[in-house]
Amino acid sequence: MKNKILKYNAQIPRYTSYPTAPHFISKTPAEYAASLALLAPHNPVSLYVHIPFCKEMCWYCGCHTTATRKYAPVEAYLSLMWREIRLTADMIGRRMNVAHLHFGGGSPTMLHPDDFLRTMDVLREAFDFVSDAEIAIEADPRGISYDKAKAYGQAGVNRASFGIQDFSPVVQAAINRRQDFATVEESVALLRQFGINDINFDLMYGLPLQTLDDIEKTVALSLSLKPRRIAMFGYAHVPWMKKHMTLIHDEDLPDACARIDQFSRAEKLLLEAGMQPVGLDHFAAENDSMLQALRSRTLARNFQGYTTDASSTLIGFGTSAISRMPDGFFQNTPHNVNYSAAILAGRLPVARGRLLEEEDRLRGDIIGQLMCYLEVDIPAILVKHGFAPDRFDDILAGFTDMMTDGMVELDRGYQGQSRSAAGSAGGRGAIR
Ligand SMILES: C[S@@+](CC[C@H](N)C(=O)[O-])C[C@H]1O[C@@H](n2cnc3c(N)ncnc32)[C@H](O)[C@@H]1O
Ligand code: SF4
Repeated sequence: MKNKILKYNAQIPRYTSYPTAPHFISKTPAEYAASLALLAPHNPVSLYVHIPFCKEMCWYCGCHTTATRKYAPVEAYLSLMWREIRLTADMIGRRMNVAHLHFGGGSPTMLHPDDFLRTMDVLREAFDFVSDAEIAIEADPRGISYDKAKAYGQAGVNRASFGIQDFSPVVQAAINRRQDFATVEESVALLRQFGINDINFDLMYGLPLQTLDDIEKTVALSLSLKPRRIAMFGYAHVPWMKKHMTLIHDEDLPDACARIDQFSRAEKLLLEAGMQPVGLDHFAAENDSMLQALRSRTLARNFQGYTTDASSTLIGFGTSAISRMPDGFFQNTPHNVNYSAAILAGRLPVARGRLLEEEDRLRGDIIGQLMCYLEVDIPAILVKHGFAPDRFDDILAGFTDMMTDGMVELDRGYQGQSRSAAGSAGGRGAIR
């Protein structure tokens, strides 16, 4: 099977949206404002808050962030973002219910406790949070203190995703991210002390100098802290897009074959420990809501990856943040200067986006189903979007090689004139 997977090895988008962000085009604040004003009043919206700062740069990092040792730029950014939140609420023109809020970055754990609480106050002044709203934060374990954990508990945070990556000191030196197990253990304990029990870990494979032994130790240490979810991300090395990645030596990177072995080893250990597979690269404990979402077919994808959030509307705040509106995507400028100029002029800082045609929705739906469930009933989706059920027959005929290799199963027993396709067989490896 490994050789067959290697035969189809290619770099593909991470598909957190369709079309993906590189395909966005220029959009104006007025277009976004029009879209906000049309939001249905009773449907809950989700919120995303982007904090683009970290104390230092991890060399593998693909996120939109900058390293700063000073707090003044963070303070200045926050005061602008609070204005953006108020401005957006004014544009909507009525109070919306919120069922999901995600703090991402960068490292939201950079915020001083008072500033985190103030940000939550600004959000609660502008939106109505439902009583069981999920409030999640991406946490750098090196940045957690007693006071911060207390503030998160007070603010209603109930889920935290910790960036772990790998516990090997050799790998950590090669990626410029040094954090020992004790630091992670202490920060997880601090959050639990303040009632935050939904704990996720981000691990990575394909890192420089990473070995199977490192993967085994990292998985075992991670499991010892009993997280509810583990994401096993494959390192995406794109030095032409992120200059700091050039500090990672190409010759230290595991090849495609080694990457497959690494993922497979992690998967085996996680399954043996009772975690259940979700989508392409997530694993969830039996009591986790993501597993329930998978089983009830309500699992979805948004800009953070897999999510239990089924809302069709996500409003993003901060530089580079992407909003998903019922009619399309809108992205804020990633540039601090432009962001600040827009907010100070009382304009929404939107720069790019894409309104969705029915064909985009159709393709997005098919990709989303494949990513979440590793199978898709193509004729049913075509009909749902108002297309003829045999529209993709030509494309499906192009899967012959993959079918022969056992990478894709095509179920032709579908009722009616057309077919259904399932991208499964050994699935989790086949399309990675
Ligand atoms: C915003 S960071 C997590 C929060 C916090 N900044 C931290 O690192 O602890 C999100 C996660 O994305 C993953 N990630 C970052 N860069 C990546 C890359 N180039 N390829 C794959 N995964 C990546 C890492 O697992 C990281 O923990
Ligand atoms: S991985 Fe996290 S801590 Fe490291 S640079 Fe990226 S966002 Fe910052």
